[in-house]
Parts: sequence; C-alpha cells; structure tokens
Amino acid sequence: MSIQDNNSNLNITVTSALPYANGEIHIGHIVSTYLPADVFTRYSRLNGFNVIHVCATDDFGTPNLIQSEKEGKTPEEYVKYWHYRDLEDFKKLGISFDYFHQTSSKENIELTQEFFRKLLQNNHIFNKKIHQPYCENDKKFLPDRYVVGTCPICRTKDQYSDGCEKCGRTLQSGEILEPHCSICGSVPVMRESIHYFFRLSAFSEKLKKWLQTNQGLKPEIKNYVLNWIKNGLKDWDITRDIKWGVPIPLKEARGKVLYGWFDNHLCYISSAVHYLSGKGLDGKSFWNSSKIYHFIGKDIIYHHYLFLPAMRMGVEEEYKLPDFIPVRGHLMLQGKKISKSRDWYISLRDFLNGFPADYLRYYCLAITPYSQDDV
Ligand code: MF3
Ligand code: ZN
Repeated sequence: MSIQDNNSNLNITVTSALPYANGEIHIGHIVSTYLPADVFTRYSRLNGFNVIHVCATDDFGTPNLIQSEKEGKTPEEYVKYWHYRDLEDFKKLGISFDYFHQTSSKENIELTQEFFRKLLQNNHIFNKKIHQPYCENDKKFLPDRYVVGTCPICRTKDQYSDGCEKCGRTLQSGEILEPHCSICGSVPVMRESIHYFFRLSAFSEKLKKWLQTNQGLKPEIKNYVLNWIKNGLKDWDITRDIKWGVPIPLKEARGKVLYGWFDNHLCYISSAVHYLSGKGLDGKSFWNSSKIYHFIGKDIIYHHYLFLPAMRMGVEEEYKLPDFIPVRGHLMLQGKKISKSRDWYISLRDFLNGFPADYLRYYCLAITPYSQDDV
C-alpha cells in the first residue's frame, strides 16, 4: 500500500480505545474493542483502502498512579512495563496496529498542551476555586479513584468517585455519597484548590446538531446521548492536584496536571500524526481527509460522544470529528461483567498460553453482535 495523505476516497483512520497501562489485557477488551477494530481494518485493507489503525496505552490517570504507588515503582517505569506487555499480547493475538504509542509520549503531551492553550484562548476554559477531597492522613488531594463511596444515582456501594460501573454515569468530584480515602479508608476533609473547567455545556446545541446529522452514528446510541444533553451537560473539571499527568501549561498552575480524559483521546490524533510523519507524510492532512472510526466499549460512550467531539469543535475542527464510533457491550463471565479493576477476568495472556490465537478470534467473532448488548 502506498499511502497518500490527501485521498478522501481511500483514507481510513481506525482507533481502538486505549487500555489503561495498569494491568493485563483481558478477553473482555478483545470482544468489545480490539477484535472488531482489527477485523474492520483487515477487511478495509483487503478492499483497497489506505487504512491506519492506531492505539496507545493510557498512561496517566489515578488508576495507574495508585497501582504504581502500591508496587513501589515510579509511574514512568510502571506504565512502560505494561506498554510493552500489552503490545506483546496484542501481537500474539494478531491485532494489526500500525502504531501503538503512549499517552505520556512527547508528541501527546505537546498536542494536549496545544489544545489546552487554544481552548483557553477561545474562552472554552475558565477557572474557579472549588473544594476538593483531601486526606489528612495521607496528606494529599484525593481525585477520582482515590475516593470510593456510594453512587448518588443508583445507590450502588463501593464505586469510584469518577463514575459508577453499575449505572454507567460519569460523576464529578464531590458527588459521590459516603466518601472515603481508597488508600487508608479515612473520611476526607474538603480543601480549597483552583481548578480549570471545560465549558462542555456551551457545546450542547452544536453537539445536538452533530449527533442528529451524522449518519454514521447508531440511532439507539444517539437517542441515549441526546437525552443526556436534554437533561443538561455540566462543565468538566479538567484539573487534578497530582504530579502524574500532562502539566497545565500556565505559570500560575504549577503543580497541577490535566485530567486523563482530557489528554487520552488526543492520543488518537498525536499517534496517527506521529506515525505518518515518520513515513514522510502530512499526518494532519491524512487525518482530515480520512473517514474516522473510533472503536470503543459501551462504558466510555459519554467521553466519546460528548467530550471528544466538543474538544475538537472548540479548536475550530482543526482535526476532523469522527464519522463512526462503533460501540460494543461487555463480555460476561458467569453472568457478571468482566472487569480488571474488580479482578474478574480471563487475561489474554493466560488464554494464549493454552490455546492458539485463532480459537479465541473465531469464538469471539461468532458471539459478538453488532449491537451494544452484553454477551
Ligand atoms: N483508558 C480508557 C478506559 O479504559 C479508555 C481511553 S480511550 C480514549 O476506559 F479515547 F480516551 F483514549
Ligand atoms: Zn487516606
């Protein structure tokens, strides 16, 4: 294949949701995301399209930081380990990535800071003083998974403060009920901190229009997301008072980093551009001339149907929005959702140590529906 960077009839960009660099790839990931994306990539290639399939490890964020702390490693060495291990596993299953990068790469940090600056300049980001949970015992702020509690919407216990696994809602800091510190279990106090917010609410109308006119998005998901918009979008807190993340590129925000969900999806773009420029091509032209597919699992619909398009709209669509966001459901294991964080899974590595890759590929494809239903 010889890629041209501006052929809008032939170019396709495929991305697979980025695995957190904090544990093994399991067969749930394979069914919901990587295998459908791989099959689509191979199919499109056979049909003569210029396809690039990119992915990366999702290196930042509290899940990884918490794990690295537990294991007494620096976050850098911790995510490197999982990056190479994941890549090995994907290769063994025959997942055909053209490029597998890291969200903590130089390229992604630069692109993320560029987005921050442009969004700020376009008045899509503002700051304000808020109160954040702080553990007096551990002497630190407790963002996201540093706090566990009860979901305020469906009342499921033992949920992380950034979202409920049961009802699928994304939660903001302070919303979780009966909060306690996930390191030591004590009840956090509230402390003042200046945080930056992305004006997601200001994009409601634009997002609505995009959802309604984009033919490639599935109707049932559109309705679901349109309902979220109808109920009112909230501005997003994109700041974390921790050291592991993309530094906020402002002098007055020293010591603060950007939320992992601000930078991770930008790695679709930075990886594609980096990979193509290594081949002497204009990555941005390729991206903008291609049909774009983001393959995801259903627990990250909110981020991909609202947050991701809004951020691209906020920089005047300098990078094209997705044409398709294929979504699949969860693989169940004895009737329970497979989950790495809940330690309920079969790892890809264990499976491939016992059986040939094609057994798993065939079985997964045979049971995976086109819909978002769990299987
Ligand atoms: N790491 C995230 C998860 O497993 C997915 C990131 S996908 C991206 O839920 F779009 F944000 F990159
Ligand atoms: Zn604590």
